[in-house]
Amino acid sequence: MKTFNDVQSIRARINMLKQQGNSVAFVPTMGNLHDGHLSLVSLAKQRADVVVVSIFVNPMQFENASDLDNYPRTLEQDLAKLTSAGVDIVFTPTPEIMYPNGLDQQTFVEVPGLSHILEGESRPGHFRGVATIVAKLFNIVKPDIACFGEKDFQQLAIIRQMVNDLALDIQVLGVPTMRENDGLAMSSRNNRLTEQQRILAPKVALVMNEVANRIANDRNSVADALELARQALVNTGMQPDELFVVDADRLIEIDAQSKRAVVLMAAFLGDVRLIDNVVVELD
Ligand code: PAF
Repeated sequence: MKTFNDVQSIRARINMLKQQGNSVAFVPTMGNLHDGHLSLVSLAKQRADVVVVSIFVNPMQFENASDLDNYPRTLEQDLAKLTSAGVDIVFTPTPEIMYPNGLDQQTFVEVPGLSHILEGESRPGHFRGVATIVAKLFNIVKPDIACFGEKDFQQLAIIRQMVNDLALDIQVLGVPTMRENDGLAMSSRNNRLTEQQRILAPKVALVMNEVANRIANDRNSVADALELARQALVNTGMQPDELFVVDADRLIEIDAQSKRAVVLMAAFLGDVRLIDNVVVELD
């Protein structure tokens, strides 16, 4: 496995591999890797000759400095996991490499509509930061395929739209969420939970599945289901941040045309924001 932190060297390496006829799959990450990330790597390996992973905690997608500072950075362990997983190339740039003129002077990519609804409404600028860094990484790595977790449902929809709108020649693959045995969606943020919080955290998935069951039986029960979910989270000591049920294909309110809904949940447990989602077939 080769690790690069500057643009010129990784480009030269990937160009050489492509000239030799290799296809490239890319897995962008912010590090602190867990089995969920490794499932993206495993799909990438099945689909291409060369697998490239980036590890970059992207300052442009954080709304507050303390969240950025507290984001777990575990480079040494991450590199060990990627070596065992058989990754070919890792890109570990610094913020100075990715944003040499600072964040304010950086050209950005913004996907309209989708970036400003749901999670985008409470996290202004977040999805602009995601789209900008992913577009930039795509231009550096020039992958044939890119793998993203379905856990970040809205992020995946935004990236698909960006790829479509900008006619990028990249196939975007979504990978199902990996869960702990108790149902908690795997996330780098789980490492910040205390022992007591870790016991409570699976409640998000439990509550989410209850909402899913209710609306699978009755698509008109969304408001009631969400209110019950809110109360259940509060009773567990969580602070609900976002609770939405929307059309899974259009991310708008469910209407008569909706075939699938997605339950999107985010709740704070202490200062850790847990997110999860599940797609439900509607009758
Ligand atoms: O999902 C993530 O880890 C990040 O949002 C991504 C896609 C690597 C962009 O920084």
